[in-house]
Amino acid sequence: MNKMILVIALISITYAQLTFNANNKCTCGDLTTQQDCAQSSPICVWDSKGSSCSTVSCSSIGDQTSCAKNLKCMWNGKGCVDFTLCNQLTGVNQAECYAQSNNCPQSDGKNCASKEALKSCSSYSNQTSCDLTISSNGICFWSTSGCSEITSCGQLNPNTCSSIGNACQWNATISNCTQASCAQFGNNYTCTYFQTQLNKFVYQLCQWNSANNNCVAASDTSQLNINTCYNQTLQTYRWISSSNKCDVCAGKIIYIVIMAIFMIMI
Ligand SMILES: *[C@@H]1O[C@H](CO)[C@@H](O)[C@H](O)[C@H]1NC(C)=O
Ligand SMILES: *[C@@H]1O[C@H](CO)[C@@H](O)[C@H](O)[C@H]1NC(C)=O
Ligand SMILES: *[C@@H]1O[C@H](CO)[C@@H](O)[C@H](O)[C@H]1NC(C)=O
Ligand SMILES: *[C@@H]1O[C@H](CO)[C@@H](O)[C@H](O)[C@H]1NC(C)=O
Ligand SMILES: *[C@@H]1O[C@H](CO)[C@@H](O)[C@H](O)[C@H]1NC(C)=O
Repeated sequence: MNKMILVIALISITYAQLTFNANNKCTCGDLTTQQDCAQSSPICVWDSKGSSCSTVSCSSIGDQTSCAKNLKCMWNGKGCVDFTLCNQLTGVNQAECYAQSNNCPQSDGKNCASKEALKSCSSYSNQTSCDLTISSNGICFWSTSGCSEITSCGQLNPNTCSSIGNACQWNATISNCTQASCAQFGNNYTCTYFQTQLNKFVYQLCQWNSANNNCVAASDTSQLNINTCYNQTLQTYRWISSSNKCDVCAGKIIYIVIMAIFMIMI
């Protein structure tokens, strides 16, 4: 009996808030609806004959932005080709390189380089080279003590606060940059998700509470539908038509194994 209560408590703690890791994206094979497959663009393509979703070929991608986003591809100046090595691309800064392949956030000043080549913030010696540069441990900013990694939203100014992703928000009342939350979203269209920590790709799902007219943390995906499931979970959940459910793509099996081990041990 006690064991049962403990297990239920553990499950409810784990499920109390729905967070997802944006790195655990669904694969094309995970997607079973045309909506999800289309929203994955430029990664997957829907085959209406076979009703299946498969990986697009790089040569079929016509624009640079879509090409760079697809990690299997890179933009070589003329077109979209299979990704080989970052040093095959010319780019004088991080932005130029990233815009040709999201695999290549670094530049040596002439050619592009992979994320393994990112440097530490302390290696940048002035504000121009430091501010918002991607380092090996996160994003850099300049202060009186030199160039260092941003570790809290409170270190950011109004401009950088909202430009470093979804982890921070500008609070005009207190004139400071603070950790993002569901409460910051004022209507059901913007009520989506926020990044729970700087430099980590973990997001909290939010949902609109129409009774109180506010946006709150979601504990499950029950408010998501065939059109919003995949997109609002940053492509980590997908819609299953047969059960009419928004279901996680990765991590579920690992979770069940951990729970099983736990149940045996206690
Ligand atoms: C900032 O530092 C970089 C190298 O770290 C250098 O190329 C650039 O000229 C410097 N800019 C200024 C304004 O000092
Ligand atoms: C913003 O908040 C942080 C942490 O609470 C604090 O260290 C910082 O001085 C504040 N900045 C301003 C401009 O008030
Ligand atoms: C801004 O900060 C104040 C004081 O901490 C807080 O009451 C308010 O809810 C915050 N606003 C937003 C949009 O988070
Ligand atoms: C927002 O609310 C309106 C009116 O209730 C509704 O028609 C619309 O579908 C909702 N949008 C979302 C994204 O939930
Ligand atoms: C997916 O969601 C983002 C915001 O989370 C939104 O800007 C975008 O328009 C959505 N795309 C589709 C196809 O719904």
